[in-house]
Amino acid sequence: MKTIVSGIQPSGRLTLGNYLGAIKNFVNIQENMEYDAFFVFIADLHAITVPKEPLLLRQSVRKLAALYLACGLNPEKVTLFIQSEVHEHAELGYLLQTISYIGELERMTQYKDKKIKQVDGVSSALLTYPVLMAGDILLYNASYVPVGQDQKQHLELTKILADRFNYRFGETFITPEPLITKIGAKIMSLQDPTKKMSKSDPLEKASIYLDDNEAAIRKKIASAITDSDGKIKFDPINKPGISNLLSIMSCCANKPIEELEKAYDGKGYGVFKQAVADSIVSLLVPIQEKYEAILNNKELLDKILDDGAIKASYFAKKNLNKVKKRMGLLRK
Ligand code: TYM
Repeated sequence: MKTIVSGIQPSGRLTLGNYLGAIKNFVNIQENMEYDAFFVFIADLHAITVPKEPLLLRQSVRKLAALYLACGLNPEKVTLFIQSEVHEHAELGYLLQTISYIGELERMTQYKDKKIKQVDGVSSALLTYPVLMAGDILLYNASYVPVGQDQKQHLELTKILADRFNYRFGETFITPEPLITKIGAKIMSLQDPTKKMSKSDPLEKASIYLDDNEAAIRKKIASAITDSDGKIKFDPINKPGISNLLSIMSCCANKPIEELEKAYDGKGYGVFKQAVADSIVSLLVPIQEKYEAILNNKELLDKILDDGAIKASYFAKKNLNKVKKRMGLLRK
């Protein structure tokens, strides 16, 4: 059985990085890969590891569901659901905590980064977040997990936990592999191309948001930080800004980077930036039009999410029972 699992947090406005590193890949897999089951969820339990305003969270969950559909995920081929509606996620997360070490969690890069920003105290859930993520994946015995580059370390921990569990309690979990695209797996900030584009970046013009209008997209690309040597060449070390724009355009227009380097050779940054903006606008405007219509169709959205939760629960319950038995927890 070949199962694929992935999720996105409903926190803040999603960026072009989330689309190119994750959602585009989900749609690609849905259309081109052979699999038995594909689960894509809204990681709301992950979102509350840092304080969230309840009303905003509820809205963000619906928005992400609508966005998945607007981007082309087909509920006939992919099971779409909300993580907290399948309670087995939290339960397996807890069980896996019993075999996770505090030291290995404290070493996680994302934990270290996020911890600094929590001025009112760091929740214990922020520390155990990667264990919950491992649970999300192992709950369905996933073989593949499509994610962006920044989740690679969490996937490595998932593999370690799967192996540790199998070693202690007998062969139970498949060791999952990340599916990370060659280009687009790490879209960088437009204002500091040495760090990743992030939905939590307070600088609005550092990110293209999926709901940005055409004018905002053009303005942000026009003001993207580049360099002064005037050459359109892919060289992430010496030319991170231009390389990031090349990656973005390559993914948005589905053209190889070498083809873009040739096409814009000697054309100057102004012309190139306009073409990059064109490619983003052509990609995002149709998605935005579909998104509004889906978000307003409350019944359809609820039906898809209800069906998704029922289907995911069926698999989750079966696998969780197996895990509990292995650990000596069930009477029968
Ligand atoms: P999250 O919500 O931070 O990001 C969702 C997905 O978007 C990718 N991504 C990027 N890709 C390219 N460039 C960027 N600048 C960029 N920023 C984000 C992320 O790598 C991710 O694939 N912990 C996860 C959610 C999660 C999950 C899971 C994923 C929870 N459980 C189980 C897979 C399997 C997260 O916070 O992603």
